[in-house]
Amino acid sequence: MVADSNARRLGQTVAGPLAGADFESFLGALRVVPVVEIACADDAVPLARTLLEAGLPCAEITFRTAAAPQAIAAVVAEVPEVRVGAGTVLNVAQAEAALAAGAGFLVSPGFDAAVVGLALERGVPIVPGVCTPTEVGLALEHGLSVVKLFPAEAAGGVPYLRALAAPFGGVRFVPTGGISADNLPAYLAVGQVLACGGSWMVKKQLIADHDFATIGRLAAEARRIADAARPAAGSRGDER
Ligand code: 3PG
Repeated sequence: MVADSNARRLGQTVAGPLAGADFESFLGALRVVPVVEIACADDAVPLARTLLEAGLPCAEITFRTAAAPQAIAAVVAEVPEVRVGAGTVLNVAQAEAALAAGAGFLVSPGFDAAVVGLALERGVPIVPGVCTPTEVGLALEHGLSVVKLFPAEAAGGVPYLRALAAPFGGVRFVPTGGISADNLPAYLAVGQVLACGGSWMVKKQLIADHDFATIGRLAAEARRIADAARPAAGSRGDER
């Protein structure tokens, strides 16, 4: 089965959150994190099955909609091969709701010390958003070395990322915001990029339309682009 072998290759244990280093390895092998905004929790399971079959067994379900906790819980219960996390976690209340729903990781658009503290206390990986050297430094102070560059394209794209990353050799980035099939290879060519996040293959309208065929096609295409851009999973790739 394609889905089974993908899950095996990505080292899925699917029982509870991965420890920090294992989560970093998982993201490095995955290279593309689908960022999901879902209006109706009932759509979460077919979406997760589609992503699994396409070779992207992961979903960051954002707290941009009220359906997020229920959608996360549904995927955890029914498609355990897909590692599901919570995105757009803006505060501790949302973090608590995400963890109660079974989220295996947390992502936030900016750096919120209280949310980071809660995630560390509970042993759940967190990828906080950063956009400046000061914010990267804040993440390091909290013991985190994997951060989301957000909003990546609007902030200046690959040239900005390279300049921001240069002083922080031990930090790995997950650029998100404006990533597409077109610019994915350029981001993955940056050695300090662990993975890229994006919604382009799981657009909310595609989900609302139940157009899982298109989602599956775009997700498989993303997977192929990632494989071509960085064949050795998790490799630091080229020069910075
Ligand atoms: C996010 O919530 O992380 C971003 O909005 C995703 O960005 P994108 O929609 O431009 O991919």
